Amino acid sequence: MSDGAENKIGELAPPMRLMMTPGPSSIDPRVYRALAAPVVGHIDPWFKTCMDETQILMRQVFQTENRVTMPLSASGSGGIEASVLNTLEEGDEAIICVNGWFSERMYEIALRTPARVTKVEAPYGTAVDAQDVRKAGAGKKIKIVGLAHGETSSGVVTQLDPFRRVADELGALLIVDTVASLAAEPLNVDKQKLDIVFSGSQKALSAPPGMSPITVSPRVEEVLKNRKKKVQSWYFDLTTAMNYWGKDRLYHHTPPISLIYALREAMRLTMEEGLENRWARHRVNQQALIAGVEAMNLELLVKNPKERLVTVTPVMIPAGIDDVKFRDQLLDEFNIEIAGGIGPLKGKIWRLGLMGYCAQKANVLLLLSAMEKVMTDQGARVVPGAGVAAAICNYAGAEAAVATTRA
Ligand SMILES: Cc1ncc(COP(=O)(O)O)c(C=O)c1O
Repeated sequence: MSDGAENKIGELAPPMRLMMTPGPSSIDPRVYRALAAPVVGHIDPWFKTCMDETQILMRQVFQTENRVTMPLSASGSGGIEASVLNTLEEGDEAIICVNGWFSERMYEIALRTPARVTKVEAPYGTAVDAQDVRKAGAGKKIKIVGLAHGETSSGVVTQLDPFRRVADELGALLIVDTVASLAAEPLNVDKQKLDIVFSGSQKALSAPPGMSPITVSPRVEEVLKNRKKKVQSWYFDLTTAMNYWGKDRLYHHTPPISLIYALREAMRLTMEEGLENRWARHRVNQQALIAGVEAMNLELLVKNPKERLVTVTPVMIPAGIDDVKFRDQLLDEFNIEIAGGIGPLKGKIWRLGLMGYCAQKANVLLLLSAMEKVMTDQGARVVPGAGVAAAICNYAGAEAAVATTRA
């Protein structure tokens, strides 16, 4: 008989990777410390205060006064489910803008409701044109228009104001996926009059995966009150979830206490830095990264600079380089994880992530030099040091610009 020695499992010891992916991103040590704090009960009076603070911070990050603002116990996809399932019912019509894998997911989820759903598309690497939504909705009674602010699969950011205008013309609610953009791209939920906005904890907020911050306008609260039928999903029914996150604090489900601690600390870090500074940090680092990859003769997927999402920079894989071998070597030799393409872009692009804690000058320069080494090993012709030199030059320009503004 076996003594079970072969089944003995060692202590958990994951490697400390540099997560230059489109999520999850590397985590600030302060957030790790919060994760390790003692767990209390979900109706402990101390925890109720911790919930209040979490909601205060979340309203600051979203820039909203919405009462219904809370973290869903789910990854970013839970935010999509909640937004779509709560607003749509039999007899409704929806328009979902699709320009990549994640906005396609919103469309897929909308198709599972009894509503009639129209897809308005743009090719991967470009933003949907609000004018196409106007045309698709003309003469119809549209309940929601949904889109991804940052489309992670293709590294595209969509300007929201034109969609707000079109949604207003159509009398529709505007639902915005900010999983890849919150705390990195400019966003002001109240000023931009966005109706439902949700995100993910693991991207530019740099908390662990598993929470989806969501905020819902008073207008949506009215829509929810007037629903003919109950929301199909019990777990994501926003009205009952708010019994716990609202003033009553009534049990709904047991939330992931430690993840809430971590998210609270990640949002505290965000607000200490200041939203505008954080947006600028992402922009400056992405500009340097772009200068670097272009100097290495890598082509960007997103051609229009105004449509480049600051958190994800997709570059075309050069001919002759093996996608998987390249990424494996980066991981094995430099401990750096980047991502490949998904959906129709699988095998065609690498996605370089600069999210939250990861978006730092040292990481950009390390990534560029590691990429140069691996590309050279795999037979590509790269001018030695060209990427890093271009990035340094770009930083110098950006720093001068910041100094000028300060003076
Ligand atoms: C824009 C966008 N929406 C939704 C999701 C889904 O989030 P999750 O994987 O956390 O469920 C992602 C994940 O990468 C995303 O980037």
